[in-house]
Amino acid sequence: MFSAKLIRQIESELLKHSGRILVEDISGETLIIKRQEAARPQFGYTLLNALAKIFRQPLLCAVPAPGGAAAQAIEIQRLRTLRQAGVPVPEVRHIADQWFAMTSAGTHSVDELIRTSPQQQLAVWQAGLAAILHVHQCGQNLSQAFARNIMWQDGKIQFIDFEDDPSKTLPVAYAQTRDWLLYLHSTAYQMNTDPVTLTRLWQQQLQQDDPEVQQLVQSCSQQLAFLRHLPRQRKPWGRDVVSLQGVGELLHVLRK
Ligand SMILES: Nc1ncnc2c1ncn2[C@@H]1O[C@H](COP(=O)(O)OP(=O)(O)O)[C@@H](O)[C@H]1O
Ligand SMILES: [Mg+2]
Repeated sequence: MFSAKLIRQIESELLKHSGRILVEDISGETLIIKRQEAARPQFGYTLLNALAKIFRQPLLCAVPAPGGAAAQAIEIQRLRTLRQAGVPVPEVRHIADQWFAMTSAGTHSVDELIRTSPQQQLAVWQAGLAAILHVHQCGQNLSQAFARNIMWQDGKIQFIDFEDDPSKTLPVAYAQTRDWLLYLHSTAYQMNTDPVTLTRLWQQQLQQDDPEVQQLVQSCSQQLAFLRHLPRQRKPWGRDVVSLQGVGELLHVLRK
């Protein structure tokens, strides 16, 4: 719990800034203040949603995120549940009506490191795979397992951004399968390593996941491997297309 003085200080900072995230040094600790935001279209889902409709494939759909106070309540609840289950997520430090404070997961996301650090790329990508397997072995699932919501600090992964809860609308094994697909969708197209090697590394993790998840991933790969035929060039096609092409390539290699 923060003191009334500290709360006033944070709220006056929030008034001065338009962004939703404030980074504050509080008693020698870096904390992240996340302010509520109205529901908005979910970035990264345009084509996934279209595919989900065509194939009646619930795994790919964006889960409805309510925005505002309801989204904040979901996020705080999920951060607590995940932490208790042993998933590395920030710790909630204070809850206010319009914002909450949590510990920092660092300044670099897996997405950023994959894009900007070729030497670290494969190691960071694999750490992401291992961390997702760990989430599943804790009996949990993520919300939006895009690489931009996976943070990397001193060789350790933390997951952020939990304003929706897929397991409210999907069985857990489906939500876990969705984690794999969203992670690969957000990373495969950026990797400098060949798809056969990537798939082998993914498979090593996947084989340790629940058999039902493995089976669901297999059935998705039957359905979606054709995506590999999409264009590989980002221009003029855009990121949505090349990221589907990338995940299609891995699903094709995985397909039995
Ligand atoms: N606990 C945290 N530690 C470090 N950075 C964070 C943390 N929470 C959020 N951020 C930063 O703020 C950005 C937006 O936060 P996020 O929770 O992903 O909200 P959204 O994507 O819904 O706006 C993240 O991409 C990350 O850069
Ligand atoms: Mg985010």
